[in-house]
Amino acid sequence: MELLGMTTIFLLVCIACLLLFASWRSISQKEKQPPGPIMLPTVGNILQLNPWNLPESLKKLSEKYGSVFTIYLGPQKVVVLYGYDVVKEALIDQADDFSGRGNLPLLKKLFQGTGIVTSNGETWKQLRRFALTTLRDFGMGKKSIEERIQEEANFLVERIRNTHERPFNPGSFVVHAVSNIICSIIFGDRFDYEDKKFLTLIDLLEENNTLQNSVQTQVCTLYNFFPTVMDYLPGPHQKLIKNVDKVNEFTLEIIENHQKTLDPTCPRDFIDAFLNKMEQEKGNSHSDFTVETLTRTTLDLFLAGTGTTSTTLRYGLLILQKYPEIVEKIQKEIDGVIGRDRSPCMADRSQMPYTDAVAHEIQRFIDFLPFNVPHTVIKDTKFRDYFIPKDTIIFPMLSSVLHDSKEFPNPEKFDPGHFLNANGTFKKSDYFMPFSAGKRICAGEGLARMELFIFLTAILQNFTLKSVVDHKDIDISPLVSTLVNMPRPYEVSFLPR
Ligand code: HEM
Ligand SMILES: *[C@@H]1O[C@H](CO)[C@@H](O)[C@H](O)[C@H]1NC(C)=O
Ligand SMILES: *[C@@H]1O[C@H](CO)[C@@H](O)[C@H](O)[C@H]1NC(C)=O
Ligand SMILES: *[C@@H]1O[C@H](CO)[C@@H](O)[C@H](O)[C@H]1NC(C)=O
Repeated sequence: MELLGMTTIFLLVCIACLLLFASWRSISQKEKQPPGPIMLPTVGNILQLNPWNLPESLKKLSEKYGSVFTIYLGPQKVVVLYGYDVVKEALIDQADDFSGRGNLPLLKKLFQGTGIVTSNGETWKQLRRFALTTLRDFGMGKKSIEERIQEEANFLVERIRNTHERPFNPGSFVVHAVSNIICSIIFGDRFDYEDKKFLTLIDLLEENNTLQNSVQTQVCTLYNFFPTVMDYLPGPHQKLIKNVDKVNEFTLEIIENHQKTLDPTCPRDFIDAFLNKMEQEKGNSHSDFTVETLTRTTLDLFLAGTGTTSTTLRYGLLILQKYPEIVEKIQKEIDGVIGRDRSPCMADRSQMPYTDAVAHEIQRFIDFLPFNVPHTVIKDTKFRDYFIPKDTIIFPMLSSVLHDSKEFPNPEKFDPGHFLNANGTFKKSDYFMPFSAGKRICAGEGLARMELFIFLTAILQNFTLKSVVDHKDIDISPLVSTLVNMPRPYEVSFLPR
């Protein structure tokens, strides 16, 4: 009896202490933190998050907790911004505060923090500015970027023609063409499609891509929840990490070759331009332009520019098989504006509103990076009524913007009408944010849009797509929807027109 009494008193004291501690904490924080579901120690909100469709889970949470809420990925706290208004307020109206890169463990492991994608502060500013101007002035060398893309489109079309209407998975053709554009910008030249070195490089990154398979994608996503444990476990994430290391070595080798053959008066490519900049900054011991940042920046452009654009194109070719009437309309526009005697160029786009609308709708529909790439706040930040401490990870959800049902009625349906006025002209939308917005907006947006437009029109100028299954049965929903949206694997034949 007495023991029971003691225990009760002990428990009561404990509860009182806990309550006191809780109220002290909320007083000391003074300001309101974004609400969210109750988390469990270590595993966080894993019970509320469906790993096969994370964006859908966050949509449900936003219906309960509003447009700004907190979740825990494992022990990692994340503030989610859901909906156009909050994403725009954060990335554009409070652009500086939200300009940090939040490095989830896998991202940090792969990109290592010294290139453009994962760096922060002055290093990020310097490297990003340099990359943007160098990409823009790329009249350097013999050809403009547009000419390089047209040339590559010809090689791609030629290669497709050689398949003689046999059905095949066009994934590797698309990856080779897209990565050749980045290669010619950073390494000075494209590679032959049969080049052994090139194929090894691409295999490492893409063709045997560990993310082709849904279980592997899940494992890599899990890495972000439990990095310390996963570091010790075998699995596709280890292969991914090892492969990126190999690509790093490949890049270093090319840089050394460039150093040996550099003519400062005549830079051949991005690497030469960077080497010149290193020379200019030689006296500055704090310079951000070093062989290390050059390697990482080169690798960043390669990694950020290849998978994104090639997956978009590959996914687009699947979607178009489902809608032969859309392909017919594009081809009518191609025949009217470009004809059959020359390659498509960017100047054609303004006269091709339907094709332009389809290109936009492909990017909106597939929603390639539903979570964006994570951000952080670079200082303690007041956002709406909430207080967000410095370095908190932020997900400015692009899927919530691209699937807004007021701006895009029936957002789950593929419909080029989302980007067309009633009179058939192109309809611009502020909600078109597949490249994000604000200070971190994709550094390759212009390049990617040029590639998508020219590759797509060149393919449809020369071929009609024929699916191996009834086009009505084609499933255009993503394979799994986690950190990226991938198309289901498919085969298609290209019939010459
Ligand atoms: C369809 C193709 C592409 C899509 C959908 C895409 C999307 C994105 C997104 C959503 C981000 C994160 C933006 C943010 O943090 O707010 C990003 C960043 C970035 N992208 Fe792209 N991207 C594409 C193609 C490219 C290409 C071709 C390049 C190559 C030049 C590239 C280079 C980069 C770089 C360097 C960053 C990091 C920017 C920074 O942290 O300051 N991207 N991209
Ligand atoms: C990729 O896969 C193919 C066949 O599936 C194999 O022959 C090749 O060696 C693989 N490449 C790499 C880099 O693992
Ligand atoms: C694609 O079609 C156009 C128009 O018919 C033609 O000018 C061009 O040579 C074709 N491209 C290839 C690589 O055959
Ligand atoms: C087409 O409609 C849009 C919006 O409804 C309008 O802004 C544009 O001027 C129209 N263009 C033509 C050529 O009628």
